[in-house]
Amino acid sequence: MSHAVPVIAIDGPSGAGKGTVARRVAAALGFHTLDSGALYRLVGLSALRDQVALTDEPALVQLTLALQLRFDQSPTGAQRIWLDEQDVTEAVRSEAAGLRASQVAALPSVRAALVTRQRACAVVPGLVADGRDMGSMIFPNAALKIFLTASTEERAQRRLAQLQAQTTPADLATVTADIVRRDHQDATRAVAPLRPWPDAVQIDTTGVPVDAVVARVLQLAVDRGIPTSRG
Ligand code: DC
Repeated sequence: MSHAVPVIAIDGPSGAGKGTVARRVAAALGFHTLDSGALYRLVGLSALRDQVALTDEPALVQLTLALQLRFDQSPTGAQRIWLDEQDVTEAVRSEAAGLRASQVAALPSVRAALVTRQRACAVVPGLVADGRDMGSMIFPNAALKIFLTASTEERAQRRLAQLQAQTTPADLATVTADIVRRDHQDATRAVAPLRPWPDAVQIDTTGVPVDAVVARVLQLAVDRGIPTSRG
């Protein structure tokens, strides 16, 4: 049985292009998006702000359940993220926030505390959700499951370009080391480890232009009978 509301799950390691592909596919279909990584990043950020240790699981769960979040679009179409009415869009995207997110994401009770919030995003006309466990734990009945990958070198180059575009000082060696560390943390944790699921279509985006990846996902959506018109 699949969800009454069509869900496209896009999982994969950091820097594989999940966010960009998810946003483009959702825009083409008129679907909503769920950037689940942002939720873990926000838990990490909130813990930093409230001085909660990343090892204090009960306090992190309380904080997770109480998160007051808002995602909206700026006039240019870029997403902005608000935590307790404070604009945290840039803070959430930092490398430090990514590493903290990866740490809190390894805690089973924090993951459990985010399940309902994530599932509530599956509303008409449909959802494109990206993360690590969208097609496994959160939306096991997703109409389409994609696992995006790319070589470590290419993922590091993309991440470096993103950071430089935000005028954040960064160098390739540090970004590569962060990606390798985060991959390891995400793939070796006991709960919802990062791995391709047997029913996911694997797409290696190394050297593939984003337009081609988006076109491939949209074609797969058509093949799966996902309603692809806004009407
Ligand atoms: O996709 P991202 O880089 O924004 O994710 C940040 C961290 O959050 C990542 O290292 C692993 C974790 N994460 C997760 O465990 N499960 C998800 N569904 C999404 C992200």
